Amino acid sequence: MKIEGQSFRSIWVKDEDETKVQIIDQRYLPFELVIEELSTLDDFARAIREMHVRGAPLIGATAAYGLCAAIREMDPESNLSEEVEKAVYYLRATRPTAVDLQHATETVWRSACRGSNQAEKLELAKAATEQLVADSILQCQLIGEHGVKLIEAISKQKKGETVNILTHCNAGWLACIDHGTATAPIYAAHDQGIKLHVWVDETRPRNQGANLTAYELAQHGVPHTVIVDNTGGHLMQHGMVDLIVVGTDRTTRSGDVANKIGTYLKALAAKDNGVPFYVAAPSSSIDWQISDGLAEIPIEERTDEEVKYVHGWFNGRIYKVLLTPHDSPAANYGFDVTPARLVSGLITERGVCAASENGLSELFPEMSKV
Ligand code: MRU
Repeated sequence: MKIEGQSFRSIWVKDEDETKVQIIDQRYLPFELVIEELSTLDDFARAIREMHVRGAPLIGATAAYGLCAAIREMDPESNLSEEVEKAVYYLRATRPTAVDLQHATETVWRSACRGSNQAEKLELAKAATEQLVADSILQCQLIGEHGVKLIEAISKQKKGETVNILTHCNAGWLACIDHGTATAPIYAAHDQGIKLHVWVDETRPRNQGANLTAYELAQHGVPHTVIVDNTGGHLMQHGMVDLIVVGTDRTTRSGDVANKIGTYLKALAAKDNGVPFYVAAPSSSIDWQISDGLAEIPIEERTDEEVKYVHGWFNGRIYKVLLTPHDSPAANYGFDVTPARLVSGLITERGVCAASENGLSELFPEMSKV
């Protein structure tokens, strides 16, 4: 996708030096475009933990590159298998909810295991990482192709009047590598000339909607309006939302969806108002091992600082401002679980299906046997 007319991905290997990977440090957007270079295992782990990068597919890709860095750093005389395993668990501990992190490290780990020495392990890990990145980009592109049909249908029903779509958090290209998941159908519809407008939930506490989704949509020329998180219900009651599309950090095989905190409340309001609520779910974000989202998905709890303070731009500088009394405690649950019964459908790279075990296994028959 583009920033100021220049093509970007959220993560890429530095051309001249294969040992370095570059990312957009998302903590500074939309105010400053800061490119950060990562080369050691600790660099990659810190970038994920401290959210220089975030969003389920991007967390997975960053961890995959991180595992390559770990293998490169290893003492060739050490027990390489043991060291790779340690690196995998170190990376997995950075953020618990997005299952992409487990999947990506599993994929690269399995490939690396086939190498009999450090050089072979590294080559295999690098190849697996590049494949994973290519697959992730393709998954997003295909989600766009399938999801755009939902928007086309609504546009037709409305006889070409503006389709109003609400999204929560950032499930755009910055959360992935390119295109995005929830935003892919939006970009595809906009590029086809369908009239649309996006309601962007600001998404406290870290404001991924206000900072990142609004930035992406503005860069792409998509009409949008930022709203505070509690506005969606009011808009739905007044017929001002035609469709909700969100991303997912982990979807169970029965279609329960963990996504950024507040998603569940949007789904409840959507149900009450008959607004279709779709989840863009690449297979990298589906956890085939579990079926009860509420009981089995680990919900990340982050520092209370993110709730108590906000970051903002003033006079050419980013400031951090306290919102609460100094000593008031705050709770910071990163995600919530939307039960499958509230989800109208899942938009996957293989098509749109019901949020249910049957729906998913029709599209992914090979996974229903896991
Ligand atoms: O805490 P974050 O910013 O990593 O959370 C991101 C989200 O919740 C996204 O909606 C989700 O990862 C889907 S990204 C395609």
